[in-house]
Amino acid sequence: MINNQWYAVLSSHEVKPGQVVAARRFGEDVVFFRDDDGQLGCVTDLCAHRGASLGGGCVRDGHIQCPFHGIEYATDGRCVHVPSEGRNSRMDFSRFNLKHYELQEIGGIVFAWYGDGEPKGEPDVFDVVTDPAFSYDHMNDTWGVHYSRVIENQLDVSHLAFVHRTTIGRGNRTIANGPKVVWLDDNTLQTSANNEVDEGQRPKPSEECVIKETNLNFKFPNLWLNHVSDKIMILAFFIPVDDEHSIIALRFYNRITGIRAIDKLIARMGSVANKVIERQDKRVVETQLPKVTSQYMSENLVAADLPIMEYRRRRHELQNAGHSIFDNTVAANLN
Ligand code: FES
Ligand SMILES: [Fe+2]
Repeated sequence: MINNQWYAVLSSHEVKPGQVVAARRFGEDVVFFRDDDGQLGCVTDLCAHRGASLGGGCVRDGHIQCPFHGIEYATDGRCVHVPSEGRNSRMDFSRFNLKHYELQEIGGIVFAWYGDGEPKGEPDVFDVVTDPAFSYDHMNDTWGVHYSRVIENQLDVSHLAFVHRTTIGRGNRTIANGPKVVWLDDNTLQTSANNEVDEGQRPKPSEECVIKETNLNFKFPNLWLNHVSDKIMILAFFIPVDDEHSIIALRFYNRITGIRAIDKLIARMGSVANKVIERQDKRVVETQLPKVTSQYMSENLVAADLPIMEYRRRRHELQNAGHSIFDNTVAANLN
């Protein structure tokens, strides 16, 4: 993980009013729920009384109620009611307060602050997320690898002719020119595929390649955008579940006709296509070892892996700057 970052962790539509959603994020079991104003909360799953799972609880008066003895917690983790002490108790229940995550919802994406103390800055999002002209459809899938593997796969331009030979990689363009990598700002990397059929030529160096209209963009820590055209964009966020699992959330955005109902239908079809391509990736990426990547690891990278190298380099910088909480695998790889 990179410490002190806003991570996209959920789609807003996944937590309806009155619903308790149990999930695993950052290697910890948590629950999401909304208060009476619709404000979203995320607290640790373990009740502070005697350790029952709040995932089996319910929402009462905008608080999450433990299914065991009915203790209630607010969205910020505060213990607000201990039934056995009575409604009019004057006792201080703060020792029951739960760990919670600060959240923000932007464009239907829930961001959680993973860091020390109060959040610094705002989540960095792509404009399409808040652009009302676009309609989108959303899908999720769980992968059995750390989220860093999923990100790197989405920045990998030389797998297209192999993994996606029947879909977006048709045409046997196995030579990877470049690729060119541009930093749009400290937090945003951009690249695009310049692949060609191998007719005996040498791949062009990065300097001779261009960023095409169809390009890939990545914002730390876990947002990705495939800018297909000004009217079609595919957004992904890579949700950290634990060291060996992640969730890829994929959204197909478009404003092809400008008519909401039709664009929504197009988005739904786009999701079907996204799913086919995503399953092609998943089959291969889930076999990669180790399940988590780092700046220093025993892989043999080639020129086509430049976007991955740049991702790892910047991630390493941010980890050092944020006093990252390394897991054992990453720490071992840093020796
Ligand atoms: S264990 Fe949750 S209220 Fe007792
Ligand atoms: Fe792929």
